Formats: sequence, structure tokens, C-alpha cells
Amino acid sequence: MSARLIDGKHIAADLLAKIKTEVDNRLATGLRAPCLAVVLIGKDPASEIYVRNKTEACQRVGIRSVAHKIEKTPTENALLQLVDELNANPDIDGILIQLPLPPPLRADLLIERIRPSKDVDGFHPYNVGRLAVRRPALRPCTPAGVMTLLQHTGVDLHGLHAVIIGASNHVGRPMGLELLLAGCTVTTCHRFTKNLESHVAEADILIAAAGKARLIQGHWIKEGAIVIDIGMNRLADGRLVGDIDFQEAEKRAGWITPVPGGVGPMTVATLLANTLAAASCP
Ligand code: GUN
Repeated sequence: MSARLIDGKHIAADLLAKIKTEVDNRLATGLRAPCLAVVLIGKDPASEIYVRNKTEACQRVGIRSVAHKIEKTPTENALLQLVDELNANPDIDGILIQLPLPPPLRADLLIERIRPSKDVDGFHPYNVGRLAVRRPALRPCTPAGVMTLLQHTGVDLHGLHAVIIGASNHVGRPMGLELLLAGCTVTTCHRFTKNLESHVAEADILIAAAGKARLIQGHWIKEGAIVIDIGMNRLADGRLVGDIDFQEAEKRAGWITPVPGGVGPMTVATLLANTLAAASCP
């Protein structure tokens, strides 16, 4: 058996085209373009690439982006003040603080300062809470993007056993809430989980978000499973690989995402969808 590929690049391009049409419709009715403020602190090369990808994607769909690039780590108070200004600015619809932040800045504190209706990352406890009580507002981008990929398989998700590897605040935990909302039975594995292989073997849907190159061996995977790899790990030789051994996994899975070209483009497209939504319902 060879898995069918879930083409995140293609699905994200379709979503971006729909967003562009909606932005164009806004402009045609005399509304201004949606606007995303991006805050980048320090000089982390990976963060610089992520931010460039996001601002380029904004440009492609007609969303305005305003970058606040601050190389020298500011005080927390100065950053809180910047967030307050962006919150109060009626021309800004979405605020994104690129993570990780250099120490000693506390990401949680800054995220909680963003007005929930402008929290286009969906990281604010209000937005995570809305997802938890089955009334999603702005949804965390990567988990919401994964749900779009799952919907594209056409498989009925109700009652399937979804196993998530990784319990981070921004990916693993909200991923569990999304899958629960979709009617799955959910298991979340984490650093203290015993016998990871036995959990993986039970998964109808496997979501890997551990951030460890090839943590999951292909032969652990249940025949026919839907396999989603959120991991993006840079090897010493420069190659980008996921958390799952793709070559072995694709022989057993029913559906699988590639790395790169799977979840990554969906995160960016969902961010722009959230920005458009924030502009539409301020
Ligand atoms: N750093 C890596 N991924 C993300 C993301 O999706 N949002 C933010 N704000 N920072 C990130």
C-alpha cells in the first residue's frame, strides 16, 4: 500500500485564492484592506524567515502588513505599550508576536495583553477557551489548518481515534480540542507517556507535533491511518524533515502529509483567514 499525499501547498493556495476574492470584494464595496501587525523581536534567523513568508503571503492576497522589527531586546513594559497601541489602533485588525521571544521576555504575558478580537494567532486564553467550550472564535492557526487538511481527505472523522504526539500550548493542546469538536476520540501523548509505540499503533489519525526528527517510526503506524506531520526539524546537512519517518510511513498510511509542503503552508493561510475574519467582525 502506498499512501495518498495530502497536498498542503495546493490546499493552502486554494484558500489564499478565496481570501483574495473576499479582500477584493471588500475593496469594491469601499472598505479598506485588512491589516496585520507583525512584531519580531531579536535576530532569530528562523523567525525572520517565518515572518517574511507571512508578510509575502499577505501581499499576495491584498492584506496590508505592518512590521515592527526590534533587533535589540526591549523591556517588557515597552512591548506591552506597543501591544496597547496596536490594540487601540482602529486601522489594525490582527496582531502577531512572532515566537519564540528572547529571554527574559515572557510570551504568555504579552499574548494575554493582545485584545482577543485581534489575536489572529488564536493563542490568547480567551480564544483557546472558546474552542474548549465548542464556540470557536479565532482558532489557533496550525490546528485549524490541520482540520482543513483532514476535511480534504473526505474521510468521516466521527468516532475515529486521533492520537496527538506533543502537548504544547499552541499546537498539541488546541489540536486535541479541534479533534474533539470534530467528534474524534482523542489521546494526547507527551514527554511522560509510556510506550509511545503502542499509542501510535492505535491511531486512525496520527498527528505528530513533538519537534523531534524521525521520532516516530513508520512500522509503528496502523495500516490505512491518516498521518499528519506538523514537525519541522532542520538536520545537520540542512534538510528539513518532520517527526515521522516519511519513507516507511507512506508504505502503511492511507493518507500522509509531506514535510515541507504539508502543514506549514496551511498555518500561514489560516493566519490570513483569521486576519480577514478579524477585519470583518471587529
Ligand atoms: N513561531 C513559530 N510558529 C509560530 C506561529 O504560528 N505564530 C507565532 N506567533 N510565532 C510562531
